[in-house]
Amino acid sequence: MAAGKGTRMKSNLPKVLHRLAGKPLLQHVLETAARLGPHPVTVVTGHGADRVDPIVVAHGARPVLQQPQLGTGHAVAQALPHLGQEGITLILNGDVPLIDAETARALVEACGGEQLALLTIVLADPGGYGRILREDGSARVLGIVEHKDATAAQRAIGEVYTGILAAPTAMLRRWVGALTNDNAQREYYLTDIVAMAVGQGVPVVARQVADEAEVLGVNSPLQLADLERRLQRRQAEALLEAGVRMADPARFDLRGELHTGLDVEIDVGCIFEGRVHLGDGVRIGAHCVIRDAVIEAGAVIHPYTHIDGAHVGPDALVGPYARLRTGADIGPEVHIGNFVEIKNSTLARGAKANHLAYLGDTTVGERVNFGAGSITANYDGANKHRTVIGADAHIGSNCVLVAPVTIGEGGTVGGGSTIAKDTPPGQLTVARAKQVTIAGWSRPVKPAKKT
Ligand code: UD1
Ligand code: CA
Repeated sequence: MAAGKGTRMKSNLPKVLHRLAGKPLLQHVLETAARLGPHPVTVVTGHGADRVDPIVVAHGARPVLQQPQLGTGHAVAQALPHLGQEGITLILNGDVPLIDAETARALVEACGGEQLALLTIVLADPGGYGRILREDGSARVLGIVEHKDATAAQRAIGEVYTGILAAPTAMLRRWVGALTNDNAQREYYLTDIVAMAVGQGVPVVARQVADEAEVLGVNSPLQLADLERRLQRRQAEALLEAGVRMADPARFDLRGELHTGLDVEIDVGCIFEGRVHLGDGVRIGAHCVIRDAVIEAGAVIHPYTHIDGAHVGPDALVGPYARLRTGADIGPEVHIGNFVEIKNSTLARGAKANHLAYLGDTTVGERVNFGAGSITANYDGANKHRTVIGADAHIGSNCVLVAPVTIGEGGTVGGGSTIAKDTPPGQLTVARAKQVTIAGWSRPVKPAKKT
């Protein structure tokens, strides 16, 4: 179910599209549903359906429109025509993102096609939730009463319905068809099916979930931020278990997948996005943002470095304050220093660009030294062109290499040169105005002030 508005998010974005660890809330649920097997998944959408449906479809699920939204029972009624005649229906909520596939699977097993299985939890503060009513003495489940319809005594009950249940589809169809909206909110409550099951002698099982984070819903930015920290803590702990040394698991963010070798060290404040691989002994300094990257064994990324769509070879040194953009391929033992930007370029073993440089669309040979303040001018205003710098070449400071251009192997380019033509190997090329000294020149003098 994902049709609700999410008023308390105070946002134009449909609630289920708000991101948790970089992924829309609904995507977390869709991925969990997919893990339960190749069963058809139906998603009830309504608010912002035009933006929600594409995500549903992208995950191989079927969106079904609920318009208007008349309650959770009404939502399920929209989905029913698309569910099989037999089998079990598992109901999940688009705004309860951390439900574990194993918990859901166990609930389906508890249903077994014959019983109504509810997932419940005991909360210290059950306010707002539907309360589980049990028979005095036997503890048999009798029904669910919504907070707004509950008496003071019922509101004192700590056990609540998580919004997740498994039911035999044929029975669910019967029950949902009989729902009315005779309640405080004038809504069709799915939770009313519990009393119907009890009335028909269908056994109701309530399974309590141990980890509260699994069933916490997102209704407000505060709850979203809280869940984010819980999930990040969980991810950080898994990495620590795997041997990663993390300066502070509370200051770590993973929005995707992080694969790590042995003896990886991560300092505080780093963000990893997409799919990142860190080889054995890789060290990541404080406050780096690293996305879709492979960083090989022994490489060191110094603080405040931004890496996106790049490959860093073994024992390379990058940063501080470096920026590796898409297609940057940094070879073994390469050194990239502060305020150096690299895009769509290959740097071979031992090359260095240590200060204030830009390399775009460039092939850099082994051991090249690219001087401070030098850049490749790879864009002529319409097209991108390549620069090739031969092995052992030395580019002085403050040079502009105007692409397309090739610097010969072992050649030197004098500082301050603008190079627009290929240079020969092994020689010094300088392209700048000759230095002159004007003899007898004197500085202009300011006219005397009138008094
Ligand atoms: C619901 C339960 C409550 C439970 C709580 C757990 C009912 C009547 N109450 O209450 O017992 O403790 O969840 O979080 O079911 N939705 C639709 N269409 C609608 C209404 C809701 O798709 O017409 C979707 C929402 O997008 C959401 C889910 O159903 O994903 C739950 O709806 P919400 O309004 O949050 O239900 P609660 O009042 O919290
Ligand atoms: Ca809710």
